[in-house]
Amino acid sequence: MRVGVCISGASGAPYAKRLIEFLNGKVELFIVASYEAKKIFKDETGVNIRDFLKDKDVKYYDNDNFYSPLASGSFKVDAGVVVPCSVKSLSAIANGFSENLIYRFADVCMKENRKLVIVVRETPFSAIHLENMLRLARLGVTILPPIPAFYNKPNTIEDIVDFIVGRILDVIGIENSIYKRWE
Ligand SMILES: Cc1cc2nc3c(=O)[nH]c(=O)nc-3n(C[C@H](O)[C@H](O)[C@H](O)COP(=O)(O)O)c2cc1C
Repeated sequence: MRVGVCISGASGAPYAKRLIEFLNGKVELFIVASYEAKKIFKDETGVNIRDFLKDKDVKYYDNDNFYSPLASGSFKVDAGVVVPCSVKSLSAIANGFSENLIYRFADVCMKENRKLVIVVRETPFSAIHLENMLRLARLGVTILPPIPAFYNKPNTIEDIVDFIVGRILDVIGIENSIYKRWE
């Protein structure tokens, strides 16, 4: 299975970090990070993204690299995740503005009817954000804002992160037991 994980410049780098850690070695993994995402990743996780990826079995592409296979529909990828997704990236994706590799990959996922999950991080949402999300949802994109639940009684920040990452994994069809399910 091939999965593309795109990291944009919203708060929520720990979700991307945990998702990559979980998928590492289980699937063929492709990573793209935006300019702002790299800075926020370091800020929120304490580690530089390139250092974090060093010992992982992933292929990393710069966001301006349209020679990446992710930029073409002829390269088969099973699922794409934009995590976290800024409202700027949300807007670009909702409007088919393929200015960088992340937007292009999302556009390819949609045109090829492939699974795409958008983890939009902002609060509160404006009507523009909501309209962009609705537009994508109507095209079959899964809008999965990182909203925690408390029925599973999280004790730590890691529990909250794992709940969101587990829900992403569920949507892209990857077996996991990293969060406590309601029984
Ligand atoms: C520390 C920090 C946190 C940010 N958090 C968010 C956020 O949660 N959501 C958001 O939409 N933008 C957030 N931004 C603003 C985006 O980074 C900015 O709009 C950027 O241009 C997004 O570009 P990108 O989506 O290409 O990464 C944040 C910026 C910084 C510096």
